[in-house]
Amino acid sequence: MLRPWLAFGFVVPSVLLLGGACGGGSSGGPSTSGPLDEDDGGGGTGAAGLPCDVDKVLADHCRKCHASPPQFGAPMPLVTWENLVAPSLADPAKKVYEGVVERVADERRRMPPSPNAPLSAAEQKTLADWIAAGAPRGADRCDGPTEVPPANGLSCTPDLSLAPESAWEMPEAAGDEYVCWGVDLAKEQATHITAFAPVIDNTEITHHIVLYEAPSAYSRVPTPCDAGSAIAWRMVLGWAPGVGPLELPPEAGFPISTDPARPTHYVAQMHYSNPLGKKGAKDKSRIDLCTSAPRQHEADVMAFGSQSFEIPAAPPAGGLYTIDCALTVPSGFAGLHFFAAMPHMHQIGVAMSTTLTPAAGGPDVDLGTMSSFSFDAQAWLPVNATTQPGDVIRTRCSWANNTGAPVRFGENTGDEMCYSFSMYYPRIKASLWSWAVPASGPPIGATCN
Ligand code: HEC
Repeated sequence: MLRPWLAFGFVVPSVLLLGGACGGGSSGGPSTSGPLDEDDGGGGTGAAGLPCDVDKVLADHCRKCHASPPQFGAPMPLVTWENLVAPSLADPAKKVYEGVVERVADERRRMPPSPNAPLSAAEQKTLADWIAAGAPRGADRCDGPTEVPPANGLSCTPDLSLAPESAWEMPEAAGDEYVCWGVDLAKEQATHITAFAPVIDNTEITHHIVLYEAPSAYSRVPTPCDAGSAIAWRMVLGWAPGVGPLELPPEAGFPISTDPARPTHYVAQMHYSNPLGKKGAKDKSRIDLCTSAPRQHEADVMAFGSQSFEIPAAPPAGGLYTIDCALTVPSGFAGLHFFAAMPHMHQIGVAMSTTLTPAAGGPDVDLGTMSSFSFDAQAWLPVNATTQPGDVIRTRCSWANNTGAPVRFGENTGDEMCYSFSMYYPRIKASLWSWAVPASGPPIGATCN
C-alpha cells in the first residue's frame, strides 16, 4: 500500500506540529535540501489571478506539493487561477477547484494528507465561498509576506547527533525494508534533550523513521530489525514526509543518563522503500539533537490504549472493528501536563483518538486524534491537557481487517498496536512505573470494550 508520493523524496518544510516550535523539514546538509527549500517554484504567495485570501490558504497548505512543477507525486499545480479552473485530471468533466473543495473536507482521502494539519473551518470556508461565487479571477499581486518556511525550523542549534555507524545499502530487489540501529548516550553533566531533528540523507528511499528508547543496547550497524525485541521499546519520535523537527516546550527536556555504565539506549527504526528497484541506493540519515542544561521539568512518554485485543477476521457491519478503552486518572497522575501525542497502530489501523473527560465537568479535551490514520505518516500532534484525579482518559482504535484472519496485539508487521504515545512532564519516578502501564489493562491500566 505504497502511495506514490511517499516513494519520492520528501523534505517538506513548514508543518506546525508543536505550537510554533517547529517548521522545518529536516535540518542542514546539502543532501537534505529538496526543491522546496528554495521555495520559489510556486511555494510562496504569488496570487497569479487568485483572490489573496484563497491564495494564502493554498500557499500555506497545498503548494509544498501542488507547486509548479508538482512535487512528491501530486498530480497538478495549484498556483495560478488558470490552474484552478482547468479540467480536473481525475474527471475532466469537473474543474480542478471542484475537487479542491471535495478533498479538503474528505475524511478518508483528506488534502493535505496526514500528518499535515487539516484546513481550519475558516480556511475551508474561504475556499468554499470563493467557489460558490463561481471562482472569479482575483488579484494579480498580493502584498504581505510570502510564506517561505525556513529550511530548518529549529530555534536551537543541534550539538549532538544520533547516527548509524555506517550507511545502509538497500538491496535492489527489496521493495520495503525495516532497518534498525542503536546509539547509547551518556553525559557527564546533567543534560536535557530539547529538540529532535531528523536529517534525511537519501530522500529517494527513506520512507519513515521511528525513534525509540530501549531497555538495552542495539547494534550501531544498520541491520534488518529484529521485530521481537521491539515490544519493550518506547516511542520517542516519528518522522514522515510533512513532519518537521520536534522541539520540547521551554520548561521541559528529556534527561540523558549521567551514568556511563547505564547509558540511555536509543534505537532508530528506518523504513526504506525501493519501489523502482534502484541499484546501490545508500542511506545514512541521522537524528540531530539540541541539548541544554537541565530544564525545570523532565519530560517523558507514556502510552494509552491497550496491549490485549483481538481483531476478528470477519469485519463487523460498517467494516471497522473498534476498541474503546477507558482509564480513570489515579491520584498519582495529578497535575501531569501533556503536550504532544503520537497515535500508533500498524498497517490495518484506520482511525485513533484519545480524549480526556475532566472530572470537574466541561468539554472533553483532545489528547491526540488521527481520524484518518496511516502507518506511513505518524507524527507528534500538539495537545494541551493537565490531568486531575478522576478524569477519564479514553482511547479508541479502529481497524479495517482485510487479512482474512484474526489479528492480535504484537510488534510484528502482521500484528497490531493501539498505543497513543503521549509526551508529558513532570516525569513519573515511581519504581514500578513503566511507560506501558496505562495501556496494560486492569487493575491499573485501562479497561477496554
Ligand atoms: C504532502 C503533499 C500534498 C499536499 C500538502 C497537498 N496535496 Fe493534494 N495531492 C497530493 C497527492 C500525492 C495527490 C494524488 C493522490 C491523491 O489523489 O490522493 C493529490 C491529489 C489532490 C487532488 C486530486 C486531484 C485529481 O485531479 O485527482 C486535489 C483536488 C488536491 N490534491 C488538492 C489539494 C489541496 C486543496 C491541498 C491543500 C489544501 C493539497 N491538495 C495539499 C499531495 C498533496
